[in-house]
Amino acid sequence: MQRKVTKAVFPVAGMGTRFLPATKSVPKEIMTLVDRPLIQYAIDEARAAGITEFIFVTSRGKGALEDYFDRAPDLEATLKAKGKTELLELVQATNMDSGAIAYVRQNQALGLGHAVWCARHLIGDEPFAVLLPDDVIAADKPCLAQMVDAYAETGGNMIAAMEVAPEMASSYGIMDVPPSIGRVLPMQGMVEKPAPGTQPSNLAAIGRYILSPDVMRHLGDIKPGVGGEIQLTDAIAREIAEKRNVYGYRFDGHRYDCGSKAGFLQATVAFGLARAELGPELERFLSDMMAQRQAAE
Ligand code: G1P
Repeated sequence: MQRKVTKAVFPVAGMGTRFLPATKSVPKEIMTLVDRPLIQYAIDEARAAGITEFIFVTSRGKGALEDYFDRAPDLEATLKAKGKTELLELVQATNMDSGAIAYVRQNQALGLGHAVWCARHLIGDEPFAVLLPDDVIAADKPCLAQMVDAYAETGGNMIAAMEVAPEMASSYGIMDVPPSIGRVLPMQGMVEKPAPGTQPSNLAAIGRYILSPDVMRHLGDIKPGVGGEIQLTDAIAREIAEKRNVYGYRFDGHRYDCGSKAGFLQATVAFGLARAELGPELERFLSDMMAQRQAAE
């Protein structure tokens, strides 16, 4: 039996420059996908996988993110007085229990690995999950819950894996795995953003990880890697070299890259279409629009 994973780290310190000017005053994680902030999708996925302790690695200017998870007594009282029960429940579902959520600061942008390392004292000697909120995954069974089930069999470390086009491999952490069609893939190595044409496979790491405390330890003594940043991938590569207990997990679901404008828009359309109260109207609008565009060509 593996130790249960109850803690998750959410690196949210990034400046969100790709979404300027919107992110000048609003943290990227608060940007809205249909009607919920991006971060809510990651939180819900973590909860569904059994996570009870949520650790946010933040930076200056992320105050709105902290407030979002607090109780809003005035708002709740107003909704209650007006008998808006459904809205009240919706708002209350975003409240986090006292003490369930912790914030640590990353005071210098030294990379994803460094951001995760900032949570080391709160993680201690336990396995932990990492969720990158930019990666939004639509799935019948949430991605992290799929991984927690697989991890119960394997232990070690597990990282969400997805096939990418060869020309995209240099944008990801790429797994070195033997050719296989299975879901759980023992890794022989991992490389962050390989130079074009040098990737060991086309299997990319997506932002869901279950990691052992050893990886946290490696993060404390690896040198800066690609882009001069402390890379999470490099700490995982060291763990593979030492123990060979790292697995890629080919998840069932569709991943949207909400760190890019195109991916955010695609997710907005897909999640809108999937909603019973919005889908039919949105679908009509999209097909009318496509027809108009084709007619104009
Ligand atoms: C990060 C990781 C990379 C991973 C990617 C998934 O990269 O460093 O290994 O493949 O997230 O989204 P970033 O997108 O922050 O450049």
